[in-house]
Amino acid sequence: MEYKLKCIGVLTSGGDAPGMNAAIRAVTRTAIFNGIRVKAIYRGYKGLITGEIKEFQTQDVSNIIQHGGTILKTARCMEFMTPEGRRTAYETMQKEEIDALVVIGGDGTFTGARIFAQEFNVPIVGIPGTIDNDLWGTDATIGYDTALNTIVDAVDKIRDTASSHERLFFVEVMGRDAGFLALNSAIAAGAEAAIIPERKTQEDQLEALIHNGFRKSKNSSIVIVAESKETGGAQALADRMKAEHPEYDARVTILGHIQRGGSPTAVDRILASRMGVAAIDALLDEQRNIMIGIDDDEIVHVPFTKAIKDDKQVNPDKIGVLQILSI
Ligand code: F6P
Repeated sequence: MEYKLKCIGVLTSGGDAPGMNAAIRAVTRTAIFNGIRVKAIYRGYKGLITGEIKEFQTQDVSNIIQHGGTILKTARCMEFMTPEGRRTAYETMQKEEIDALVVIGGDGTFTGARIFAQEFNVPIVGIPGTIDNDLWGTDATIGYDTALNTIVDAVDKIRDTASSHERLFFVEVMGRDAGFLALNSAIAAGAEAAIIPERKTQEDQLEALIHNGFRKSKNSSIVIVAESKETGGAQALADRMKAEHPEYDARVTILGHIQRGGSPTAVDRILASRMGVAAIDALLDEQRNIMIGIDDDEIVHVPFTKAIKDDKQVNPDKIGVLQILSI
């Protein structure tokens, strides 16, 4: 489709992530800088279906770079998964004269975008916003650094009480199918082990690891566990440990949604700002169906299909680092 870029729509979708506001600001201001109108779409794809849309000027994104969450609100929209829902969304785009979309979110957001783009030939550029950092083709996603720092801060506090009481703590962190948050927070907080979805064997080694630690010089142990419906996460592990080793005074902390909140770190604000500018540049360059990524501090374009389908691996060296340093 030949198109002249006069007006773009921007939305946030899926789980919120600190830094999304910085990305909305960058997209809005870069578009206006280039003479393109900006329509803010509320509540993700839902707003595209219901027409919850407002035209943004530069001042609409003032004073938001420092705030967590998303001023556009977010949702996981079931209706957009249906052909009827997507047709209504397309009709809204036509009515609002939106030529292209910038979608900020994770794999669910890009899966929807890819189908929509194919069905209606709509130019879409994605910006990766998820604390999980689980998108292939980018070293980092917006929100990941802030969440990592939130976890490390929380684990430092847990360590104080763990060591005072000489206890074993299982701390559950987010990352549905990815161990980035768990592994890196474990290294940064000096935890004894990390249980991550990518390495199921870690769980079997856990007993020996904790046993060793306590037998030697340690008076507390912290195990970071990535959430998992399959294994039951931190609570299930702690229950197992308590049943097999009642001598350990084990406790569980589930950090939950506090990991998604808070003011974004400088790293996330800069990443979001760069990606927001790059998203508009890409649309001006007639790119479509791509996610903006960062690779070795350079902006890259990653096809949606690759970003969603290919598995981003945790660095195995880091597993070794954690093991060595937890002796
Ligand atoms: O996708 C990000 C994420 O934070 C996952 O790690 C987590 O499983 C999920 O969102 C929880 O989302 P919610 O409870 O908001 O549906």
